[in-house]
Amino acid sequence: MSHVSLTGDWLLVNQKLCDIVGYNKEELLKLSFQQITHPDDLSSDMAFVEKMLRGEIQTYSLEKRYIRKDKSHVWINLTVSLVKDSSGLPLYFISVIEDIHKRKKMESQLRGIHGEMEQIIEKRTAALKIEIAERKRAEKERNSFYDLSSDLIAIFGYDGYLRAANPALRKCLGYTEKELTSRRFIEIIHPEDLDRTLEISAEFRKTGRFAGMENRYLCKNGNIVTLSWTVTGVPEDDCIYTVARDVTDIRRQELEIAEQKLKIAANSKMNALGRMASGIAHEINNPLTIVYGQTSALKKLAEEDFVPKSKIVTIANSMEKMCERIVRIINGLRTFSRDATNDPLEFYSAGKLLNETLSFCHGRIQSFEIELAVDEVSEEFEFYCRPVQISQVLLNLLNNSIDAVKSLDSKRIQIRFVVENEKIGFSISDSGAGIKKDHIPNLFTPFFTTKEIGIGTGLGLSIAKGIVDAHQGNIYFDTASTETCFVFLLPRVSK
Ligand SMILES: Nc1ncnc2c1ncn2[C@@H]1O[C@H](COP(=O)(O)OP(=O)(O)O)[C@@H](O)[C@H]1O
Ligand SMILES: [Mg+2]
Repeated sequence: MSHVSLTGDWLLVNQKLCDIVGYNKEELLKLSFQQITHPDDLSSDMAFVEKMLRGEIQTYSLEKRYIRKDKSHVWINLTVSLVKDSSGLPLYFISVIEDIHKRKKMESQLRGIHGEMEQIIEKRTAALKIEIAERKRAEKERNSFYDLSSDLIAIFGYDGYLRAANPALRKCLGYTEKELTSRRFIEIIHPEDLDRTLEISAEFRKTGRFAGMENRYLCKNGNIVTLSWTVTGVPEDDCIYTVARDVTDIRRQELEIAEQKLKIAANSKMNALGRMASGIAHEINNPLTIVYGQTSALKKLAEEDFVPKSKIVTIANSMEKMCERIVRIINGLRTFSRDATNDPLEFYSAGKLLNETLSFCHGRIQSFEIELAVDEVSEEFEFYCRPVQISQVLLNLLNNSIDAVKSLDSKRIQIRFVVENEKIGFSISDSGAGIKKDHIPNLFTPFFTTKEIGIGTGLGLSIAKGIVDAHQGNIYFDTASTETCFVFLLPRVSK
């Protein structure tokens, strides 16, 4: 508390004030308030003083700093009023000074902390903004992925209820999301696939393992679709994320192709048999003509008075031989036309197998006047094989060679017996025009044919390869040969 002159000099100061500013009374009384007021705070104080002297205000309060004797500054709260004489002339000011330095310091500290906090918050907010933008972008991406994907995406709970189905899945099944989410998904599974689906789902819930699954669904419009599933589970979220593909068309096509293949394979056999038929007719015709001739010979003999028994026996023997030949051919044909896939492997004379096979196509070879050269095969060589199948291989190769030469001037087919390391087999070469270089890689591919529809099936070589492979043998087009030459070899097995 103090009295201050109208010009600012200290007139009366108490000890409290002296303590605040660090001067003793004598020192302070020599100074004015202007001298110890912080320069930055002086003008606002002076403005109040002037207002008060003009009579505009009766009193004022303000927080300001004094400069202490030790040059440090101290915050105080100043409340001033003016003492006037009886005629209203100003005499002096009474100032009440309160030390608010501690509060100010705390305030400033608080402001500092506040500022720091604000900075931190600002930084954090900026980071959050980026994070939110990033999340929004990711979410948008996810959403458009979910909405636009042609894959069928669904989210299930572990209770088997569908939580969400993307537009592709809804479109595929023909149900609205509400129709799908309001019942257990298994209700629209094809009854025949239900047990298996439940088994796989239970296994997945138990172990988290999912080995893949395909099952059929009943669409709203009555169609049936086959879906192939990929599944990921997040048990802690009670969510199973699934992606499915509609494989209905693929599976149907596969089925059709398999059926078609079976048909064609059957056809190809019929085709081979058909070609054999003309040869066989020829083959049977020969012995039949002989038998027929011999029946006339017998009839003639019967007209004679004396017939030596030996003559009859000779004719009968010859007839018997011819009949045996016919029986052999017919048996061979019967054997050939049946499925030999499950026949047991047996030792079978290579020479015998060759001759039997040739008997099926001798007729064709003769009728086209093809020159046929065949190696003599020693009795010691035996295939360990399913004879009917190997005969089919040989016949396929022979038929190809016949096709290749039949309309040429020079018609030759050569069959050689091949012994190579631990393998034995046949090579069939012909004087045909050969095979174009870019056809070579396709020769053993099913359905590769250069022949007219109805004549070629493109299955002969692929079936032959299948058979030879199953015998652990090999079959190949011999590019080293000067003529068109195919070779097949089977392992030589000792008894
Ligand atoms: N000896 C051959 N000479 C020329 N081309 C051949 C010969 N053998 C096979 N080919 C070719 O290989 C193709 C496939 O033969 P193959 O699988 O037996 O089927 P297909 O005889 O029904 O056409 C034939 O169409 C033909 O182009
Ligand atoms: Mg063929």
